[in-house]
Formats: sequence, structure tokens, C-alpha cells
Amino acid sequence: MMLRIEKVLSAEKVRELHTLIDDAEWVDGNETSGHQSRTAKRNRQLRQGSETAQKAGRIVLEALGHAPEFVAGALPLKVFPPLFNRYEGGEAFGDHVDNSIRRLDGTDFRMRSDLSATLFLSEPDSYKGGELVVKDLFGEHRVKLPAGDLVLYPASSVHRVMPVTSGARTASFFWLQSMVRDPLRREQLYRLDRTVRVLSADRGPQDDAVLELTNLYHNLMRAWADS
Ligand code: NI
Repeated sequence: MMLRIEKVLSAEKVRELHTLIDDAEWVDGNETSGHQSRTAKRNRQLRQGSETAQKAGRIVLEALGHAPEFVAGALPLKVFPPLFNRYEGGEAFGDHVDNSIRRLDGTDFRMRSDLSATLFLSEPDSYKGGELVVKDLFGEHRVKLPAGDLVLYPASSVHRVMPVTSGARTASFFWLQSMVRDPLRREQLYRLDRTVRVLSADRGPQDDAVLELTNLYHNLMRAWADS
């Protein structure tokens, strides 16, 4: 399942992040690459673990906590500290896969990457190219979203970022381990949750059917979720 989450960051927060990171130290993006992706990747990243990267990462994490659609779709258990990248002057990231297990150097943090996320920080009309292309058996999905919007996609996919031929594309990206490992189960929970919210808005949360479906949702979580 690929999911677009709109307005994770307000325009004001996007500006705040740009002020914080635009003039910070940007290094070769291969700092966080695995063996395969190293050959495909040409971009820059905010130095991982730097004070600026940590501060900017906290702003993103806080925003995610206030994005109910993100929480419902991802059911996050562990979130890798958000990273920041920038593509310009023809930079691109060719077809690659994301590492299945992520560790944070110098800590005991370790997680399985179930989902990958890109939070766009540049307006689409401010740069050419730069689409995130996610492949699945159905074909290729091209994603280029307004600043502040986020796309969640399977970390298990082959994906790439098209060359940015003018302007600059800045984004935050990270991986997460979901409480529900199985993508099919996770998707059903998300669909059920959405339906319950629609019904609840219509009938009120005390309606018998709404209550029953809410109970069903939580009981499926009990059966399927790690916490
Ligand atoms: Ni990737």
C-alpha cells in the first residue's frame, strides 16, 4: 500500500525547517547507503547525528505524532531518526532497495524497515524532475508532492529518485517498523479504521455498530500487533 498523507507540516513548519537546515553542513549522501545503493546514489544529506539534523528530526517526529492519518496507516512501533537530503544539478538516486535492518551507530537502536517515508520540503514547481518512482508488480508509481506532504511506501519495493535538472529538491526521509508486520493485515486495519471514523462522524461514537466495529478494530490489533 502506498499512502499520501497531506499537510504533515504546515507552511510555517516547512519554512522553519528550511531556515534551520538550508545553510547547515551537507555531506555526500552515501553516508547512510548500503552496498547496493552506494553505486546508484548521487545526492547530499544533512550530516547524520549533527545538532541541526537532530533538531530538524525532532520537528518532523513531533509533526508525525500529530498526523492521525500517518499513525493509522503506518501503525509505527519504531521510527528511524529522520534524515534530510537534497538533490540538484542533475543529482539522482537510481533503482535501489532499502536495507531491511537499520541500526543507529553508537547506540543499541535497531529496527526492521517495513515502510519508507519521504516528506517533501520543496514545492513541486520549484524544481524539475525529482519524482520518487516506486515499482511494484502493477508498474511504476511516480510521486512528487507539495511541500509538507508525505508519502508512505513499502520499504520492500525497488525505487528511485529521478534526476533533478533544475532547482533543488529537499526532503526528509526515514524508515519505520510497524506494530503490524504483515502489509495485508496493516492495510485491512487502516481500511477498517477509516470506515469506523466515517461511520462515527455520521452516527456518533456511541452508536452500537460503531462501538462494535471499534471493538473489532482493537481486538484485531490485540491479535496482530507488537507493542
Ligand atoms: Ni531508498
